[in-house]
Amino acid sequence: MTELIHGDALLVANHLAKSSVDLVYLDPPFNVGTKFRARTTDAGATSRVTGPVAYRDQFPSKTAFLDWLFERLNVIHGLLASTGSLWLHLDQRTVHEAKVRLDALFGEENFRGEVIWVPGNGGRGNGPTTTHQTLLFYSKTDEFTWNAKDPELREPYAKTSLSMHFKERDEDGRHYRERTIGKKTYRYYADLGRLRGSVWSDCPSMLSNTPLRSETTGYPTQKPLALLERIVRATSNEGDLVLDPFMGSGTTLEAALKHGRRAVGSDIGELSITTVTKRLQRAGHPVEVVDASSRTASHRAKPRAKRAPAPRARRSGPAS
Ligand SMILES: C[S@@+](CC[C@H](N)C(=O)[O-])C[C@H]1O[C@@H](n2cnc3c(N)ncnc32)[C@H](O)[C@@H]1O
Repeated sequence: MTELIHGDALLVANHLAKSSVDLVYLDPPFNVGTKFRARTTDAGATSRVTGPVAYRDQFPSKTAFLDWLFERLNVIHGLLASTGSLWLHLDQRTVHEAKVRLDALFGEENFRGEVIWVPGNGGRGNGPTTTHQTLLFYSKTDEFTWNAKDPELREPYAKTSLSMHFKERDEDGRHYRERTIGKKTYRYYADLGRLRGSVWSDCPSMLSNTPLRSETTGYPTQKPLALLERIVRATSNEGDLVLDPFMGSGTTLEAALKHGRRAVGSDIGELSITTVTKRLQRAGHPVEVVDASSRTASHRAKPRAKRAPAPRARRSGPAS
């Protein structure tokens, strides 16, 4: 049963034990200064943003927004397991200030990198318009999951690189190349592809916002399932608990459940709760809605017995 916590993300600690969460993805309001309405569909083909207000993204100032966000991030940090990690998804409005505050909360050494997500929208306005959003990735300690060999994190080598460098074959006939860096020799297999870089432009937002696609829920600012599937597979393992405190249409929860993780989400909006309920039930996942302010709901997401460290990856040296 997947728990949907209806209420302020500040209250998720009423429902989750300390150090019980393996992965958190947060896609909060971005301090845009507007309200977001749900989309309605006319004649099955066009999409109009004329539905009910899903949520208000309006704060008195940037500082007020960041103070609000970090009050919640402080709580969420306490819920993360020692091997847990967190993605914070923001845009150019606040990501730089948020990075400084996250460095202070997690420790600068636990900043593991950032992803530039290119949703594929055109630019508008004067000057170099921003056509990307930024996802900051932090771990709680230096032991964290990074599934470098998962196909989600691989991409094909360039054809020229394949023909120039991957000339060796192993006993199974697989093409590879070897490189010696320092005193260590690394072997790279052609069929594994290379490790994906930090610019992700292959998860377009139209996947989640085109009314003709079944993925579309009509919830505003819905993120593509492909983006969340990559995040879930890259930075958690089967059976892990994935939390999305600002779940919106429930993309993270659907991605987590699809890949054998446990999921829990919260949202303050009624429309989010009804949207996620429908979405997960349609995908065959039973849900239970609980009130965030009640402490009566189960604390069933208890810390699990410590796993063998095998699937955990420390990022040191080039990935093979
Ligand atoms: C950008 S949307 C999330 C979209 C989501 N990632 C998706 O794919 O559909 C931000 C969400 O934060 C929710 N929200 C705003 N303030 C909140 C709060 N204090 N606690 C929990 N949720 C909140 C809004 O209702 C909205 O659904």
